[in-house]
Amino acid sequence: MNPPAPIRFRVNGRVVTVTPPPLKRLSAVLRDDLGLTGTKVGCDAGDCGACTVLLDGAQVCACLVPAGRLDGCAVTTVEGLDGAGVLKAAFHHHGAAQCGICTPAMLIAATDLLARDPAPDERAVRDALGGVLCRCTGYRKIVAAVMDVGGAQHEPAAAGTAVGARLATVDGAAKLSGEEVFGADGVPPGALWLRVARSPHASARFTIGDMTPLLDANPGLARVLSAADVPFNGFGIYPDIKDQPVLADGLARYRGEAIVALVGERDAIEAIEESDLPIEYEPLAPVTGLDAAMAAGAPRLHDDRPGNLLIEGRVVSGDAAGALRDCARVAEGIFETGFVEHAAIEPEAGWARRVGERIEVHVSTQTPYMDRDEVAHVMRLPPDRVRIVPTACGGGFGGKLDLSVQPLVALAAWLEDRPVACVYTRPESMAATTKRHPARIRARMGCHSDGRLQAVTADADFDTGAYTSWGPTVAGRVPIHASGPYRVPHVSARGRAFFTNAPPAGAFRGFGVPQIAIAHEALMDDLAEALGHDRLDFRLLNALRPGDTTATGQRLEASVGLVSCLEALRPHWRDALDAANETNGGATRRGVGIGCMWYGIGNTALSNPSTLRVALAADGALTLYSGAVDIGQGANTIVTQICADALGVPLDRFRLVTGDTDLTADAGKTSASRQTFVSGKAAQLAGEDLRRTILRQVNAGPEARIELVGARLRVIDGDASHDIDLAGAALTGEGTFDPPTTSLDDDGQGTPYATYAFAAQMAVVDVDIELGTVKPIHIVAAHDVGRAINPTLVEGQIEGGIAQGLGFALMEEYLPGQTENLHDYLIPTIGDVPPIEVILIEDAEPLGPFGAKGVGEPGLVPTAPAILGAIRHATGARLTRVPALPHRVRAAIRDLEASND
Ligand code: FES
Ligand code: FES
Repeated sequence: MNPPAPIRFRVNGRVVTVTPPPLKRLSAVLRDDLGLTGTKVGCDAGDCGACTVLLDGAQVCACLVPAGRLDGCAVTTVEGLDGAGVLKAAFHHHGAAQCGICTPAMLIAATDLLARDPAPDERAVRDALGGVLCRCTGYRKIVAAVMDVGGAQHEPAAAGTAVGARLATVDGAAKLSGEEVFGADGVPPGALWLRVARSPHASARFTIGDMTPLLDANPGLARVLSAADVPFNGFGIYPDIKDQPVLADGLARYRGEAIVALVGERDAIEAIEESDLPIEYEPLAPVTGLDAAMAAGAPRLHDDRPGNLLIEGRVVSGDAAGALRDCARVAEGIFETGFVEHAAIEPEAGWARRVGERIEVHVSTQTPYMDRDEVAHVMRLPPDRVRIVPTACGGGFGGKLDLSVQPLVALAAWLEDRPVACVYTRPESMAATTKRHPARIRARMGCHSDGRLQAVTADADFDTGAYTSWGPTVAGRVPIHASGPYRVPHVSARGRAFFTNAPPAGAFRGFGVPQIAIAHEALMDDLAEALGHDRLDFRLLNALRPGDTTATGQRLEASVGLVSCLEALRPHWRDALDAANETNGGATRRGVGIGCMWYGIGNTALSNPSTLRVALAADGALTLYSGAVDIGQGANTIVTQICADALGVPLDRFRLVTGDTDLTADAGKTSASRQTFVSGKAAQLAGEDLRRTILRQVNAGPEARIELVGARLRVIDGDASHDIDLAGAALTGEGTFDPPTTSLDDDGQGTPYATYAFAAQMAVVDVDIELGTVKPIHIVAAHDVGRAINPTLVEGQIEGGIAQGLGFALMEEYLPGQTENLHDYLIPTIGDVPPIEVILIEDAEPLGPFGAKGVGEPGLVPTAPAILGAIRHATGARLTRVPALPHRVRAAIRDLEASND
């Protein structure tokens, strides 16, 4: 075969000559041949837009452009957006880049637009950016940034003014320049690559034949890893449940399960056909869905789990069954949800290298310390011989709390003594990694004739897929939240998780609370309707208040802001109802719905500590060492703002060291909305600790001012001024915070969380009653966050959560084997997310840093209930299964019409 012909084209104004195969994708040419890793790859199929570049001035998906088309063309990547300073500044100012993986493409698309239309309206922005998916932001701040190019910019925060200020992120610049290093970006030259071969069957026995012929036929294939190569072939979140093999051992329990791993030169392993692998499968009848898992005589997925039951959690207070008998009104229903895919735009990615007798893993993760311990366990190494270096994380949402590439690249790099990298393809990511738990919830709720809730019963069953993952967390958290954010004296709630031959269901923003919220909010609407109460007023009547006791027997002392949320929503609610009444008629019906939520911050009834350190070096360098991984939610900025004000030094004096398990203390995982509350508190304590140390050196009072100018440290205490010589030992501060919780007894009684977030959201939708389509028009979200450390970032979290809640409500349903890419599995685009108005309620949490709680999960939880309530208001149809796809909406309307006949 002739070698490929050279191709000359311009990239960012520079002429380059490359000789790739003519069908090599432009995205790969840019990244692999030219080192321009600012162009991201999220799907390689033209679906996500993360690879968007300008080709001869027009935006294109670089993954769809073959190299053979490039000769004589001009390509602009994010690295070449020299003239886009004001656009980048607007992104920075508006908090439009969260994780940053979509940001280069968004900037390219916006540049394309602004070249044609320097002052675009919202519709033009939506049209121009419509090809780029963002899973983090909910798009609203991106739209605002593009419409505000050249607008206001942030001023640096003076000492003591960081908390509460709308500051730009401390780590945003690299995301805007394209220099940020994500999991696939920093692979060392000369690394080997690893590709996983996966089970095509949901349930199958298999045998692996002799690999020697394959190795002999493929000189670039270095080795093939199988279960026999894994020192301890089991991992899992819980110390006592390591039931998921790194590589399946003769039995595949879900489609997409890892069977063998090919390690070698990248081209060589990619060229090998799956059919070339000597793997013989004997398909078995899979256990599909909850009914099959629970059926008498159902095959057991795990020998030690009779009835395929993983775990059961429960909360019992009072006598719910008896109280329901005495209620004036009782509502009930069965509610169902499906698998939901995280769809982070960055697939799982990372690489490892052996450093002497240690292994170092660079990976996109939400939980470096858990990764360290898991990799050590799998490799039978002491944890201190494993180093996890988190790369930037291009979206997590719970999906990067479980191991993916980590043990595979670690093992391969250890055995080969060469760096080894692995990047999941999009279909692989969707088939192999965890999902939101499908749920079936039977619930009843009753109230007195005056509307006061008396009792709730809930049986929530979850499909936890093939392995344990976070199933126990969901089964434990859900019963606690089953009664909603309301005063209910009698509660009986149960959560159970069952194994099936589906992908493991794991952590996904909310840990089951979004599912149970659909149930309790639908029943609240039922009862309000039965009593003729306004739906908002009915919630207000029953809202938890300070001094109330929850179903677990926990007395809520402070920071219980649901009443304030509802009151803040009230004028919008009234206006929206009035407007809906005026506009209704015809095939398109307008509806208004409301949803409330509460969410326990942090781990459920478990120790949950975080430690942060801050150090002032001899040269005046002030460094915050934070293990609280920022996955785009802004933890880097939040902990720095908090520490800066606790210490009393301007924020821009800080530099950050984050995540690296060799350099930072364990701050716990980035999940359960805990980093602002737990690690933020640790940051506050660390800053205060260093401040005390400094003041003690010069006997200054607590109100003294600290000035750090260059390497000079000065303490000004009233009229006195003291200079401190930093030439001696570094000054350090350390803070550790573990929220005060208790374990729960057999009835679920105790204090599972130190604090709770509260929220109420209102959705306005238009429903086409003939087509069954639902179009969100407007969402108003009132959230009690305790204290908004950075209102821009808090809003961004809420807006992003709402977009995911909208997807959960209306479009997202993962079907194994069917929706394993981003054109069959739809997530909200910029055109799907309506205007969102965020109202921040600051009901300070005394335990929190400067009063703050957490907001990562709460944004998502009430959105689906509010949208379902709006559909019902528009049509009268009560949907009990999400997503509310058009055929389900139509069926519900038909059922309603039939029952009215
Ligand atoms: S990577 Fe090209 S569109 Fe997704
Ligand atoms: S900021 Fe857009 S995908 Fe994360």
